[in-house]
Amino acid sequence: MSRTRDQAYLVGEQYKNADNLRARIDLHERFSSNKEVFARWLFDQIIAPPEAKVLELGTGPAHFWRKNSERIPQGWQITLSDLSPGMLEEAKKVGSSLMADFDYKLIDAQTIPFADAHFDLVIANHMLYHVPDLDKAIAEIRRVLKPGGKLYAATNGQDHMKELDQFILEHLKPKLDSEQPFELLQGLSFRLENGKETLQKQFDNVELYPFDDHLEVTEAEPFLAYIYSMNRLQSIVLDQALLAKVMQEAKVALDQKLELGPIYVTKSTGLFAAF
Ligand SMILES: C[S@@+](CC[C@H](N)C(=O)[O-])C[C@H]1O[C@@H](n2cnc3c(N)ncnc32)[C@H](O)[C@@H]1O
Repeated sequence: MSRTRDQAYLVGEQYKNADNLRARIDLHERFSSNKEVFARWLFDQIIAPPEAKVLELGTGPAHFWRKNSERIPQGWQITLSDLSPGMLEEAKKVGSSLMADFDYKLIDAQTIPFADAHFDLVIANHMLYHVPDLDKAIAEIRRVLKPGGKLYAATNGQDHMKELDQFILEHLKPKLDSEQPFELLQGLSFRLENGKETLQKQFDNVELYPFDDHLEVTEAEPFLAYIYSMNRLQSIVLDQALLAKVMQEAKVALDQKLELGPIYVTKSTGLFAAF
């Protein structure tokens, strides 16, 4: 199975804490050309009553709420949830510093432990592509939503960060002396191009709001930290000393390239609303 949906890997390595996610958020925050903060843009799209029961699936370190802290409606009862215990601990730390009515629960999106028609709003940002049985998760979300309740789910498109894969394939993989197949970032199970069809199996109305952006990266280190955070090179090479050497050489090559100007990285991201 793809590591993107391998739950033992996701909980035990990739999302055992928020370090990997932070490296990726850092690159986006520092080098995005669109200066509107993505998490705030997401919040702007949400239409929900002032009194609402809200469930966030795959909350990670509660980044979405931290970025919108001063405008969380007082009347929202919010359950922050994640599959990974380590992530949920990070969410608790962040949540306890914010003025909002949060509670916390370990939840796999495939089996949501709430009664039918319980929530007004479910938020599932950049996480549905990690779920092994996507149809089951969408059916569970529909089940726990009240009639007229809404799902908001951000995800990426096919070309998102494609220059990163190109860089890995051209500059890193050939030096790693590994025959292991390399898993590309492209081809997520739930992406901008196919998400509508998936959601329409359970929801009558599905809308897509694209977010227009790209990166202009001017520093080698955060670019390489992003690559490292994906853990995909570590999975194809056992010799970590060799990997460290190859990354160091890549930094030198990148620094030279950056003298000619910023590195352009495509972003393809957006938000589905389903109701
Ligand atoms: C890319 S992070 C997104 C975090 C956050 N939603 C955000 O947008 O910043 C994906 C999160 O989904 C969680 N996750 C993965 N599979 C899950 C599942 N089946 N059910 C619930 N959460 C899951 C991971 O542990 C991780 O915290």
